[in-house]
Amino acid sequence: MIGFAGAGKVGAASAFEVASMGLDDISLVDIIPGLAEGEALDISHRLSDAGIDVDVKGSADFAALSGADLVVITAGLARKPGMTRMDLLGKNAGIIADVTKNVAKYAPNSVILMVTNPMDAMTFVALKSSGFPKARVVGQGGVLDNSRFKYVLAKKLGVSRGSITSMVMGEHGENMIPVASHTYISGVPLTTLLTEDEVQQAIDDTRKVAADVIAKKGATIFAPGRSVARMANAIVNDTKEVLAASTYLEGEYGLSGMCIGVPVKLGKGGVEKIYEVKLSDKERDWFNKGADTLREALATLNL
Ligand code: NAI
Repeated sequence: MIGFAGAGKVGAASAFEVASMGLDDISLVDIIPGLAEGEALDISHRLSDAGIDVDVKGSADFAALSGADLVVITAGLARKPGMTRMDLLGKNAGIIADVTKNVAKYAPNSVILMVTNPMDAMTFVALKSSGFPKARVVGQGGVLDNSRFKYVLAKKLGVSRGSITSMVMGEHGENMIPVASHTYISGVPLTTLLTEDEVQQAIDDTRKVAADVIAKKGATIFAPGRSVARMANAIVNDTKEVLAASTYLEGEYGLSGMCIGVPVKLGKGGVEKIYEVKLSDKERDWFNKGADTLREALATLNL
């Protein structure tokens, strides 16, 4: 069973995507009375028409997460227009500490998939509060950022999004790194197709496009839902897909004591391997800047 702690906009959209793929039974939990049950019914009715027979339930009680193999956490506050993800740090840290203690109580063998922002910091809070081994706490950010990078590049180059191989790593925030030095269009290096200025423009556009969506419609919903489902599929079906995700580092990339986005292999046990990729000097600087931002943020949290 896949649990969802938080059945707001992103929690519901993620559950909808996961249910539509028929991955597993689903249990949604939210503190707003009736919300999780309502979303579960709505999703269930949609599944009937598709002939998908997974069971979707909703509850306001964390005990409903009992026995979950994977718990997706979207509980907490979302940013409003004009806010950065880091502006949510203090309030969401308390919520996530509380939520992950409940996850550890009711689903002690689960993998936690963190979505709540600031996601890298919240992944670290979840790791500490749950007491889970590092492999079983992972954060979603890079998959979504990469969808946005592909969108920007496809528009710029006039090519199919499906022919782009790319990755966005580092902090899921202002210092994210669309890794242009390792981006290919069916094997053709991106850096041979765009000038340095054009590449930088694509990177800048990728970084700010979420804020743009939030300014226009109040939240990002569908794209995060799909990104969560992709990671859930890799974990539940043990696919060993390699994706950028936030994980606890112990010396990789010269960093320790924090969670940040790097390429990982995902399977039933969560993060099964961390890959180290050579970055350009500029990309390395951004990576370190993101790490510095996270270190400063974590220092304020009293963990
Ligand atoms: P939302 O406000 O629609 O939903 C949040 C839900 O969490 C609410 O229904 C609320 O009742 C619930 N909640 C709060 N405290 C809770 C608790 N202690 N236990 C259970 N449920 C609790 O917000 P939305 O748009 O769904 O965003 C959720 C989070 O995901 C935000 O922090 C947002 O910034 C983040 N996000 C992260 C993305 C990523 O790629 N990592 C992408 C998009 C959003």
